[in-house]
Amino acid sequence: MDKIKACIFDLDGVIVDTAKYHYKAWKEIAQKLKFEFTEKDNERLKGVSRMESLDILLSIGNINLTQQEKEEIAEQKNNRYKEFVYNMKPDEILPGAKEFIELIRSVGILTALGSASKNAEIILEKLNLIPLFDAIIDGNHVTKTKPNPEVFLKAAEELKVSPANCVVFEDAEAGVEAAKAAGMKCVGIGSKDILKDADLIINGLDKMDMNILCTL
Ligand code: G6P
Ligand code: MG
Repeated sequence: MDKIKACIFDLDGVIVDTAKYHYKAWKEIAQKLKFEFTEKDNERLKGVSRMESLDILLSIGNINLTQQEKEEIAEQKNNRYKEFVYNMKPDEILPGAKEFIELIRSVGILTALGSASKNAEIILEKLNLIPLFDAIIDGNHVTKTKPNPEVFLKAAEELKVSPANCVVFEDAEAGVEAAKAAGMKCVGIGSKDILKDADLIINGLDKMDMNILCTL
């Protein structure tokens, strides 16, 4: 590919496993509304914004709510989620994530976060990772969510790097689609069945090094 000048990382599922906290918080909402919400259902919420996640949840429970009710429930879910987030510690960083980001920075590659989450900054703060990013673009900075490429294009713009020189790391299908739509290379983290459009698929950032990055 063109020279790699920047790497853009999704947060949830790439740097830290927050999916388990999202799941717990959504499950409590489902329990209150009296329907079953499984871990398999939760897969559908990965990479999807909070309000879109709620719509998917409600469709699983076959429940119709007004816009105001939906906003109240989304707030309840987020308050519960934030309780988990406030207790997060740096030892929850996924294996190899910090080391890989430090490695690429040491050779002059720029780094950005590109996440759908509106809680991304507080999570990075809890993990002491803020200094490792040259740009942080999250759910508060975009109007269109993944698979729309806006979050990654904004990150590239802030880094002043052309999309063709960027590599995205993503664990969600919608995120891989967004990276490809942005004209970037994409490393999928997770299963080959779900992330088939990625240029390379690995189990985690502990499997990455400069040689592998340069093969993209
Ligand atoms: C990430 C997660 C999603 C979550 C979204 C919004 O993309 O993978 O599961 O719904 O962020 O998160 P937020 O913290 O804004 O509710
Ligand atoms: Mg993710």
